[in-house]
Amino acid sequence: IPVSSFALVVFGATGDLARRKLLPAMFQRDVAGQLPDDAHIFGAARARLAEGEFLLLARQAIEEHVPAPERAAASVERFLARLRYVAVEATGEEGWRELAVALASVQDRIIVFYLATGPALFGPICERLARFGLAGGNTRVVVEKPVGRDLASAQAVNTMIGSVFPEERTYRIDHYLGKETVQNLMAFRFANGLFEPLWNAAHIDHVQITVAESLGVEGRAGYYDTAGALRDMVQNHLLQLLCLVAMEPPARLDADAVRDEKLKVLCALEPITEANAAYNVVRGQYRAGASASGPVPGYLEELGLEESPAETFVAIKAGVKNWRWAGVPFYLRTGKRLAARVSEIVITFRAVAHSVFKPSAGPIIANRLVIRLQPDEGVQLWLMIKDPGPGGMRLRQVPLDMSFATAFGLRNPDAYERLVLDVVRGNQTLFMRRDEVEAAWRWIGPILEAWSHPAAEPPKPYTAGTWGPAAAIALIERDGRTWADGGT
Ligand code: BG6
Repeated sequence: IPVSSFALVVFGATGDLARRKLLPAMFQRDVAGQLPDDAHIFGAARARLAEGEFLLLARQAIEEHVPAPERAAASVERFLARLRYVAVEATGEEGWRELAVALASVQDRIIVFYLATGPALFGPICERLARFGLAGGNTRVVVEKPVGRDLASAQAVNTMIGSVFPEERTYRIDHYLGKETVQNLMAFRFANGLFEPLWNAAHIDHVQITVAESLGVEGRAGYYDTAGALRDMVQNHLLQLLCLVAMEPPARLDADAVRDEKLKVLCALEPITEANAAYNVVRGQYRAGASASGPVPGYLEELGLEESPAETFVAIKAGVKNWRWAGVPFYLRTGKRLAARVSEIVITFRAVAHSVFKPSAGPIIANRLVIRLQPDEGVQLWLMIKDPGPGGMRLRQVPLDMSFATAFGLRNPDAYERLVLDVVRGNQTLFMRRDEVEAAWRWIGPILEAWSHPAAEPPKPYTAGTWGPAAAIALIERDGRTWADGGT
């Protein structure tokens, strides 16, 4: 759907997120013909770059992050012609007047301020946008996660942003919500009559949500070492996935109806307390090991640190205390430098009530639904069948397999392509509302507190290229279950 004319102002325009995601995403939407001819993108950052230098940086970003066949020379030139640059001091006074002058010609359109900066700058930037008369009714603000580092700081950040931008003009990004396959979760659950009647504690044994990365910290050491995996991934991406799996059907697919249902799930999460955190949560940190491309250093060596309490892995046994999910564990797991890059949701159904087969038929393995978010996006439903052939009744597990690549063969648009244009369209469905973010922090808080105790056990070491510390395997196996590595 084409969008109305707009200007996008990216604060932190020379940073990692802008180069890796935002500029390539906007380029792709331009190639797809979705940007109106007069849509402009203003880069804003502290560096005193000449416009030509910023254009060079943007050109390099596109060359590095957009595959060659998708970036015809003419498209690159057309896109670069949309870009402007203004050097702005987020915590000072320099550049703001220039920014106001630059934006004067686009005040008749939607203006999106994208704060691709650390959260410490959200306050100073919003305050200056207001002071320089740049936060009028035609503007929207986008902030990156994590919003805050605990409940109190998230509330402070939200209050401060809220003093300039009302909630309906505030867009808190969780880019997992923009992934095609994550959106597909809603289509899968609510556009099929088949699964919803089974989607409850009577029929589901447990749920696993894994977001495993094979990469390490990748040049974001400063941020990562103060955040850790719980703040970086669980507070937002994993809990949002859990919400989409566990929520009640919203009455309509509109922003507040969907977010109301997600909020109810967050509020129903079984509290993890300081006392039971050691039992329900495992944190780990990788040591030297190997990835597919060869040996890799441990976290501390990679960052040049003697020691650090930052966790690069978390596994949690969570529960949703409501009628639908009582007694169904949700095992969550995420980490860096794991054995594979794979994000998936695995729903394991309850075992059959009674086996009519002889022991020689082999075990009956409970049905599993695997929603593969990335890579190899798709859906698999694992069923038992009779092993074909004359060997008598032998049971075998097979998948009904739907791969997006095979079925559709389309390029999978990056989450940011969808999300930035949703901001322009004014659609908040895929963005986190203030109360959701705060409810997620409320649940995370006691875990952080338990870990900050002087007597708390440090993160458990795991070898890079494995599935995390042995304790994470014990976390699920003590319940008689196993992690479904690779879905099977
Ligand atoms: C980001 C985290 O939000 O998500 C990163 O800050 C992480 O640490 C990334 O690597 C993973 O995103 P994706 O889209 O590559 O799965």
